[in-house]
Amino acid sequence: MKVTAAVTHKKGEISIETVELAQPRASEALVRVIAAGVCHTDAAGMNQVIPVTLPAIFGHEGVGVVEEVGAGVESLKPGDRVIMSYPSCGVCPHCVEGHPYACEHLNRLFFDGSFKDGSKRFSQNGTPISSFFGQGSFATHVVVDARNAVKVDVRSDDDLIKLCSLGCGVQTGAGAVLNRAAPKPYSSLVVFGCGGVGMAAIMAAKIAGCSKIIGVDVVASRLEMALEIGATHVVNGKETDAVEEIKKITDGGANYSIESSGIPALTLQALKCLRREGLCVLNSVTGDAEIPIPLEPLLMNPSVTLAGVTEGASNPQIFIPKLVQYFNEGRLPVDKLIKIYDFKDIKQAFEDSHTGVTVKPILKF
Ligand SMILES: NC(=O)c1ccc[n+]([C@@H]2O[C@H](COP(=O)([O-])OP(=O)(O)OC[C@H]3O[C@@H](n4cnc5c(N)ncnc54)[C@H](O)[C@@H]3O)[C@@H](O)[C@H]2O)c1
Ligand SMILES: [Zn+2]
Ligand SMILES: [Zn+2]
Repeated sequence: MKVTAAVTHKKGEISIETVELAQPRASEALVRVIAAGVCHTDAAGMNQVIPVTLPAIFGHEGVGVVEEVGAGVESLKPGDRVIMSYPSCGVCPHCVEGHPYACEHLNRLFFDGSFKDGSKRFSQNGTPISSFFGQGSFATHVVVDARNAVKVDVRSDDDLIKLCSLGCGVQTGAGAVLNRAAPKPYSSLVVFGCGGVGMAAIMAAKIAGCSKIIGVDVVASRLEMALEIGATHVVNGKETDAVEEIKKITDGGANYSIESSGIPALTLQALKCLRREGLCVLNSVTGDAEIPIPLEPLLMNPSVTLAGVTEGASNPQIFIPKLVQYFNEGRLPVDKLIKIYDFKDIKQAFEDSHTGVTVKPILKF
């Protein structure tokens, strides 16, 4: 079928075009996309900070309605409302263990844009086009693996639109806290970078019962919002020495830090602000950037852990419905982060995400 999509042929470019979408194969579903969030990782892929195979259709926070399913799909049926998430193979040891975020085929499935059988679903004049994260949801319709679409119980399409970022950004931030850090009640937790990922981490820290929740950013409006959604303290990293300030607030250092700024060097700050036995969870996608870490004074002697995590160590089929429940109870106010843009204004949405005007742009089809 013919669908309208935002296609990236060359690094940094995007144009709305007509492309061909193949039928769903076995274990796959055809989804009519209602809306898709813009995540920083889309920009990283588009700008080739991560080597995504081009041409590609980006977008990996799509929500929509299932229109058709391929052979053998039992978890979905036409008419189901779904939040789409990240792909995984389902058969490697990590997937079998219920840890799809550590899937052995993750790089190919996320960034090469091909499906489990190695083929692609989008094409244009016979040239295959990658589906970013096995999704490519900057398109009016997508084909996804059924593992990659979570059926959710929401009241309306309007509510579904608010939940786009549960598929990646919110799952990543909330999961870094609830799944990986699993903070003890009344502990202290710092979030570096109050974007879509960081804000979700702050909301999750409140859910987990942290007593001191510190948001660090360089954009004043983001710090104000961080306070609104659960931070007890904020620090402007442009105006103050963040590490010193955090040590003051926490009386010597925080128990947990979550790095979600996308700035490689901030990992050092996220380690230095910890107290003994602290845990730093690294979310940022930073390509092949390297930073020097003095091992003895930063990791060994204070017995600190640095943990890299993909997609908040979450199993989407289990974690996303829980996040929907938190949203329905008013405990995960992700609707406060969003601004809705018409799909044709996709470039503006990226621009507003980049400049900090909008935390979570949502493209509506
Ligand atoms: N690990 C994963 O699975 C995963 C999933 C989603 C996103 N990510 C990554 O997480 C990061 C955050 O994503 P996002 O969508 O929230 O991005 P974003 O651009 O919305 O947020 C980044 C925030 O960091 C702030 N920031 C910039 N410089 C700073 C500084 N020096 N000190 C403090 N804050 C600073 C920005 O103002 C912004 O608010 C990106 O690197 C993204 O690629 C990783
Ligand atoms: Zn796997
Ligand atoms: Zn993402």
